[in-house]
Amino acid sequence: MAQIIGGVATTHVPAIGKAIADGKQNDPYWKPFFKGFDYVHYWLARTKPDVAVVFYNDHGLNFFLDKLPTFAVGAAAEYRSEDEGWGIPVSRTVPGETALSWHIINTLVADDFDVTMCQEMLIDHALTIPMALMWPAAAAAKGGAEKPWPVKIVPIEINTVQHPLPSLKRCFALGRSVGRAIESYDQKLRVMVVATGGLSHQLDGARAGFINRDFDQLCLDKIVAEPDALTRYSIHELVKESGSQGVEFLNWMAMRGALTGRVSELNRNYHIPISNTAAATVVYDNQPEEARKAA
Ligand code: DHB
Ligand code: FE
Repeated sequence: MAQIIGGVATTHVPAIGKAIADGKQNDPYWKPFFKGFDYVHYWLARTKPDVAVVFYNDHGLNFFLDKLPTFAVGAAAEYRSEDEGWGIPVSRTVPGETALSWHIINTLVADDFDVTMCQEMLIDHALTIPMALMWPAAAAAKGGAEKPWPVKIVPIEINTVQHPLPSLKRCFALGRSVGRAIESYDQKLRVMVVATGGLSHQLDGARAGFINRDFDQLCLDKIVAEPDALTRYSIHELVKESGSQGVEFLNWMAMRGALTGRVSELNRNYHIPISNTAAATVVYDNQPEEARKAA
């Protein structure tokens, strides 16, 4: 059976892609953010995942406001990116774990989640920036021959862009269903789950530049042992507390739902600001055996 080894959650600000392209990882502005990935690299080298199931939100590259699914699951053999206009290099194509995608889709629909299934799906900065941060050597390789991506992906897209948005509770439940799907998948795969986006930020309107350190800390604390406590926030309360783009925290809640074992935080990096965003990078351990023993 497939095993969920843990998770990584990280901010996905496009300017990070420009900093990588310009080799600015050690500049005073960028270092406090990039150093949060030292532990991620150590953890990935130690745990060696085969697959990353990635909860993220598209910002208009694949889905636009005219047709916007609440939840969409990629089921492609590979995922291409395109120029989004941020002035950052376009990512290499990322391979898909198609059979696991279909298993997850089947499980989600059986669990009453009416997802959109995508046999073609462009991936935007919300997926490509975290890939480049987690596997910088593979991201930089030309053509893919020398240094292939060490994982295949299953992208799961959540609408955080156009209201009405799904609730924190619904995203947590979606993650739970994805977690059960992974654990019932009849292949010996080491699966990590990834969440991208957040934490607090607002890019437009009267509160542009809004950041809420206290609320971010509360979210980071509660998501480990008391995720249910976060599900009591409505979407409008979440917008108020975390900013109109801080709602990308929905991706974190879905990821947390997919961690079905005993969960602990292995490493946390929080830094204000990166561009307009309170930047956070967290690594979570998942111990399925421990959870079963405790039950
Ligand atoms: C920024 C943050 C985002 O989440 C995003 O998708 C685009 C830009 C920013 O802070 O610049
Ligand atoms: Fe974003």
